[in-house]
Amino acid sequence: MKKNLQIAIDGPAGAGKSTIAKAIAKRLGIFYVDTGAMYRAIALKSLRLNIPVDHEEEVGHMVQQTEIELDHSEERRVFCDGQDVTEAIRSPEVSRKVSTIAAYPVVRQRLVQLQRQEAKRGAVIMDGRDIGTFVLPEADLKIFLTASIEERAHRRWRELLKAGKEVPVNEVKQDMEKRDRQDTEREASPLQPAHDALILDTTELTIEEIVDRIIALTDRL
Ligand code: DC
Repeated sequence: MKKNLQIAIDGPAGAGKSTIAKAIAKRLGIFYVDTGAMYRAIALKSLRLNIPVDHEEEVGHMVQQTEIELDHSEERRVFCDGQDVTEAIRSPEVSRKVSTIAAYPVVRQRLVQLQRQEAKRGAVIMDGRDIGTFVLPEADLKIFLTASIEERAHRRWRELLKAGKEVPVNEVKQDMEKRDRQDTEREASPLQPAHDALILDTTELTIEEIVDRIIALTDRL
């Protein structure tokens, strides 16, 4: 395996990106970088500081003064300005606001810079929306994961339930559709497959099947 191997996993919310990327990172013994967590940390900080997420300038100013750290241990904790925000960034409120701040070029610029720094640490698998198209355009393997909106909403609903958050599945689906639309239609690095990405529909596949398929593709790298 290449010392600086790069695997990019992109796709809409609930396609299974993070579960799959974590499993692959473990199997290959490489770093995992959850770029969505970084955008979520900024959205959470805006909420906590009462900065309205539609105030682009203020959010942009705040992001320049924010430190985000991803812990690479098994626990994969997320720190924002030294504070552990691992659980807080998964709240439905953050999920609802994050696409707005993720559309701001100034936010993207800063976070992409951090993401590219992370990729310099060694072999890495990174998941997000623009990894194959923008963050790591030279990645050795680019996967675009998709699944039907019903399946994705159910997956997210089950995740929330497991975390003790009971939300009607229809609400999860509507939030997800809205977020997909915002992520796809924004001007700065919209969600789209890279021209050289392999598109994998995960609706009918188990996590193990997807992981095995991707691992098989890394054999030749
Ligand atoms: O993958 P996630 O649900 O944690 O991502 C949260 C939000 O961040 C999502 O609405 C889109 C945005 N995002 C992005 O714009 N670019 C990335 N590389 C990762 C996430």
